[in-house]
Amino acid sequence: MAKHTPELILTGLELDKNSKRPMYWQLYDGLRQNILTGMLRAGQRLPASREFSTMLGVSRSTVLLAMDHLLSEGYIIGKTGSGTFISNELPEKFLYTSSIKNSNESHDLNAELSKRGKQISKIEISTTPMPEAIRAFQPGLPAIREFPHNIWSRIVTRCLRMISTPNLGYGESIGYFPLREAIANHIRVARAVKCEPEQIIIVNGSQQALDLTARILADPEDIAWIEDPGYLGAKAAFSGNGIKTIPVPVDHEGLNVTAGKKAAPKARIAYITPSHQYPLGVTMSLPRRLQILDWANNNNAWILEDDYDSEYRYGGNPLSSLQGLDENNRVIYLGTFSKVMFPALRLGYIVVPPGLVEVFLRAKSMSDRHNAMIEQLALAEFIANGDFARHIRKMRILYHERQQTLIFYAQKHLKGALHLDPSNAGLHSVGWLTNQKNDKLVSEKARELGVIAPAISAYCMAAKVPSGLSLGYAPFTESEIKTGIELLANIL
Ligand SMILES: Cc1ncc(COP(=O)(O)O)c(C=O)c1O
Repeated sequence: MAKHTPELILTGLELDKNSKRPMYWQLYDGLRQNILTGMLRAGQRLPASREFSTMLGVSRSTVLLAMDHLLSEGYIIGKTGSGTFISNELPEKFLYTSSIKNSNESHDLNAELSKRGKQISKIEISTTPMPEAIRAFQPGLPAIREFPHNIWSRIVTRCLRMISTPNLGYGESIGYFPLREAIANHIRVARAVKCEPEQIIIVNGSQQALDLTARILADPEDIAWIEDPGYLGAKAAFSGNGIKTIPVPVDHEGLNVTAGKKAAPKARIAYITPSHQYPLGVTMSLPRRLQILDWANNNNAWILEDDYDSEYRYGGNPLSSLQGLDENNRVIYLGTFSKVMFPALRLGYIVVPPGLVEVFLRAKSMSDRHNAMIEQLALAEFIANGDFARHIRKMRILYHERQQTLIFYAQKHLKGALHLDPSNAGLHSVGWLTNQKNDKLVSEKARELGVIAPAISAYCMAAKVPSGLSLGYAPFTESEIKTGIELLANIL
């Protein structure tokens, strides 16, 4: 049976019969260029010479001669019985940089960006994968290895098989109703959020929620309060939309509302993580919660409550959501599945006051129409059949144990050098450095040893906080935690 060769797409292959350069050289030049620019990818199969010559309208000997040269220089390889392929040996980097270089050579396209585009080009935000995903003590990650992948893949496969035709077309921007219903049931009970499924908009994680919210609720030059130290992803979303961020200090009661009022009384937005402040881990006190609600109400400001990891509480007095206390529709509540499922799922949700649903839907539709359907169907089922609650229960026990393991080894090997407070919630703790003033330097040295421990000062905008490290514990085994602490002991 003849092997099928996928359609070949070549660019700039202009063969000129009247040129002084022989046809086989022209063909060689064109194919080589297509390999270098990545149009022809490593491992791609080339058509048989007869088929190729018909395709290109040249003689078979022209094709054979060009192929011979490419073969001898290692651009292509022949495999007996199966055909000719683009070589895998060519360094990918060379291929891609060559194509990028060619396209950028003429002039700097960045000079032609819009004002907003120029603003975005300067935003500090991660665009690359986390290579150290499972390396102690990378914060912000759940125990990805302990996720019940077998159950999840069974559900996803079933959803793929059973998906109905209407669910394969364009769906509702607001998201799949059974998923919104499942989320509403969960957060009403677990977080005392006051909501109906109609107020829940499914998004691609909290980051998209922040971007949409910033665009809808504030104009360029408006002000947003942001916790200092705080979550830099939120700062990026505001700054990228032209919103000025005013850092507001955080103390043991959470964001200092009095300081915020003093610095920018007329801010449009206050971004906070009241359940478990990122990165310090404090819980916002009830008086502060009432104070910020009062300020927002008196100033027609919006509070963005980012409840990113509150499912994991290990003790203390669990305070319900700020949204649940709000009587005046001033709170936009953001939730994510990145910490309870896994970040690559890219599923989160926004709970908005009923009067804002329509505008949020238009913004969501403008941005990406709606989230991918299969994952929404699968997650709705995962929640509805109890797997979600079971996973949270299991992880809560595991993470609590891992936090205690971290404290145990820190006390054993870093006594007097690093002080770890037990944390009532979340996936990370702060290790305060007792005799090292420069946490960034410590963090750099740790990285050289293969330990990821971001400096607390790296999350600071104007605040001066004691020297400390953000230490994730949720995804790491006892042996990884022990090794990480022993390595840290070498530099502390
Ligand atoms: C404070 C905070 N909010 C939200 C998120 C999660 O964002 P996403 O839902 O976009 O994955 C993170 C992730 O690290 C975070 O630290």
